[in-house]
Amino acid sequence: MTRKGIILAGGAGRRLYPATATSSKQLLPVYNKPMIYYPLSMLMLTGIREVLIISTPDDLPNFKRIFGDGSGLGMAFEYAVQQEPRGLADAFIIGEAFLDGAPSCLVLGDNILYGNTIGSVMKKASSRREGATIFGYPVKDPSRFGVVEFDKDWNVLSVEEKPTSPKSAHAIPGVYFYDAQASTLAKQIRPSRRGELEITSLNHLYLQQKQLTVEVFGRGVAWFDTGTHHSLLQAANFVETIEERQGMMIGCIEEIAYSNQWICSERLNKAATQMGGGSYSDYLKRLAANEGRGERF
Ligand code: TTP
Repeated sequence: MTRKGIILAGGAGRRLYPATATSSKQLLPVYNKPMIYYPLSMLMLTGIREVLIISTPDDLPNFKRIFGDGSGLGMAFEYAVQQEPRGLADAFIIGEAFLDGAPSCLVLGDNILYGNTIGSVMKKASSRREGATIFGYPVKDPSRFGVVEFDKDWNVLSVEEKPTSPKSAHAIPGVYFYDAQASTLAKQIRPSRRGELEITSLNHLYLQQKQLTVEVFGRGVAWFDTGTHHSLLQAANFVETIEERQGMMIGCIEEIAYSNQWICSERLNKAATQMGGGSYSDYLKRLAANEGRGERF
């Protein structure tokens, strides 16, 4: 079965108050586009066309207004409500009917990964039909994140959620690939002490079955979790720097749809025209005129 994508875009966004008082965190801009464009682009670069967006009852209508049924991108979008932020693994309980036995890729709506190896690493993970694949990314302060420990042959030894004494410097970014068992296993998880169905618990179940693989991102990759004022600004500055320097966009979903050949140049022009002008619209028009095709990610 074809792999499907889930974007988890709910949550409380408390660390970004008052910026999130009336807006979903994932709709705040990261430089020149809504935050959710970046995790969506990761799914698109993996070749995933069917996507479920999960958000709060208040915010879900806004995501529908932006993406509709997804046909503007040559994709198919569905939507589901998460009533309370019950944890990341809840995505597989909410998404069980959508997945309908398909393998999946879950991305968190506030995670941005950038680097020229991302597409190929994600495609490699996606090609594994059995088990789960998570990623490791070296950070200075691993105790703030889920942490993965592995041996010299890359065998996963442990996964821990926000450990006080981390066994490795590798945090787990918010992108996860699972086989068809994810929903069944997610239903076996009990809430943690903070009351959430932890994604680390799901990964632990795969580890117990010896079905958890880790791929490690090196120096050439930037990972931002944009959940704090500081990291949000850092991510925006990063995107602005790369885009201004290279004249190519990061996380431009219409561009990826076009280069995946999911939409034609007429559709690209239409999207640009509907935006009514501005630098993003101008960029799409240049692409449609075939002046701006280049390498991304
Ligand atoms: P977090 O950053 O852990 O939580 P949050 O967004 O609620 O923020 P804060 O801690 O500041 O209150 O969430 C990571 C991502 O997952 C983010 O995109 C929101 C999303 N999320 C959900 O959609 N549902 C959930 O139950 C949780 C825990 C997170």
